[in-house]
Amino acid sequence: MSSLAVQAQHASELPVCMGGEFVCHCHQVTEAELRLAIEETGATSIEEISVGTKAGTGCMSCHCKLNRMLCGLSPNCGRFGLCGQCGCAEALCVCNAA
Ligand code: FES
Repeated sequence: MSSLAVQAQHASELPVCMGGEFVCHCHQVTEAELRLAIEETGATSIEEISVGTKAGTGCMSCHCKLNRMLCGLSPNCGRFGLCGQCGCAEALCVCNAA
């Protein structure tokens, strides 16, 4: 395993709300709820995700995470996004939020 590999935290492994950590704190929407919404609706934008979940319609600080999820990445914002399967760093986050 490379030095960049870390243990991924899958939504199903996290105890908070049984759906993983909150991605949108304003509306208390979890990663699992967002993944389900994206999967079920085929949402491709924050506006489409927010229709059913309200995620992203408050302070908007979660938009980076929502955009990452829409790209199929972990919502974890930071220097690197982590692969949801193996936990290895897979993409460089280019936002300025981290
Ligand atoms: S944290 Fe999502 S809108 Fe504020």
